[in-house]
Amino acid sequence: MPPVGRNVIARRTVVRAGLAAAGTGLLAGCTSGADLPAGLVLPTDPSVSLAEARRPASGVVRAYPVSAQVDTVDLGGPAVTTWTYGGQLPGRELRVRVGDTVEAVLANRLPVETSIHWHGLALRNDMDGAPMLTQPAVPPGGTFTYRFVAATPGTHWLHPHSGTQLDRGLYAPLIVEDPAEPGDYDQDWLVLLDDWVDGTGRTPDDVLADLRAGGDHMAGMSRAAGRGGDVDYPYYLINGRIAEAPVGWTGTPGQRARIRLVNAASDTAFRVAIGGHRLRVTHTDGFPVRPVDADALLIGMGERYDVMITLADGVFPLVALAEGKAGGALGLIRTGAGEPPLTTVRPAELDGALTGYPSLVAESRVRLPARTPDVEHRLDLTGGMMGYRWGINGAPLDMSQRLPVRQGQRMRIVFTNHTMMWHPMHVHGHTFQLGNSGPRKDTVIVLPGRKVACDLDADNPGQWMIHCHNTYHSEAGMATVLGYRS
Ligand code: C2O
Ligand code: CU
Repeated sequence: MPPVGRNVIARRTVVRAGLAAAGTGLLAGCTSGADLPAGLVLPTDPSVSLAEARRPASGVVRAYPVSAQVDTVDLGGPAVTTWTYGGQLPGRELRVRVGDTVEAVLANRLPVETSIHWHGLALRNDMDGAPMLTQPAVPPGGTFTYRFVAATPGTHWLHPHSGTQLDRGLYAPLIVEDPAEPGDYDQDWLVLLDDWVDGTGRTPDDVLADLRAGGDHMAGMSRAAGRGGDVDYPYYLINGRIAEAPVGWTGTPGQRARIRLVNAASDTAFRVAIGGHRLRVTHTDGFPVRPVDADALLIGMGERYDVMITLADGVFPLVALAEGKAGGALGLIRTGAGEPPLTTVRPAELDGALTGYPSLVAESRVRLPARTPDVEHRLDLTGGMMGYRWGINGAPLDMSQRLPVRQGQRMRIVFTNHTMMWHPMHVHGHTFQLGNSGPRKDTVIVLPGRKVACDLDADNPGQWMIHCHNTYHSEAGMATVLGYRS
């Protein structure tokens, strides 16, 4: 067995790429290495292993073999040929306890290279799964062993980080349980939301090509003001199922159910409500907030919310409406007798009180201590549908550029949205806090014309992506790299 944290790069990877240097010089995002700013803390830097050694580890190793493969999947009627983890949609749940070591062997059986990103975990940089930045991409036929301590409790997920792969079926839930957190609930349900196009006549690569050619633009323009996304999808899914063949959860009246919502979609925010129930919001992006009650919530791509409900008696729809689009996804909660609702059911709660970031307050145990930022980075979100060009500070991703930070600094990132579209901005390897006492998050929706300040402690050395979690925006350039310097 390799020592903890050592990459196991399949021999084929090295041979094919012809670069034994892949683990050192070429990594961190640049083809020549020479263009990179000096003094960067690369994924191979000893400080990365040092940070890992400081994470409290239980010593328990949790194996998670995962095969990325081509498959035909039944969405509950339509059968689609797509790419999945292990033939399932979503991929098999990975559930560990905080401090456990995840050992995930990825076997790439896809026709293209891939990798896995562990969204929400502040993990060691060389396991973050950002191709050419933190590891060489895993070639077709290759394998890669991810080995890291899962130190961030909460509801997270995993997905690839290449091209438009996320808009296929490559995603799975990742739950890190915290034994120190009182689990006052009887049921623990996972709800993975997705927008679906792959295998319906277009692939996500076709969608991107159409966007660049201005195709889906027209569809967008024809919709009413407040466009929800750039792409019209034929299906919206909960746990891989269309509304006509919904997933179901069962319980008994009076039980408390913890529902973990993950938005794994590429271009769709969802408005979520449960008929006959109020939602008590307890966590976002894995971090606890002071519980607040709401009728509905809006969840952007990459975001997670945990909500608690007290089960009523009967059959109830969990509806996830595609915000600003036509259609939605459905799941059914059964605790007693009753007819299932129509697939087009729209519970009144959808129009009720919505939770928003201003109503969320971080639980004191996860609140960042007040501190004046040592460094502030202003990230203007720029671009538009013309030519489908998106960027940050007027330019698309440049892997030779870095937003500098040093270990130990308090950093403020100010996102300002100068576009007509909203963007869920995600920071790898860290969680930030909104304002002085707002929620701790790793993904935040920035609405058109709005400014959002995110404060974080630079405590995880390495090189980290910051990007829009709209798969198409990110692929079109709305991304940048946070680079620790020594
Ligand atoms: Cu879930 Cu870089 O993303
Ligand atoms: Cu975006």
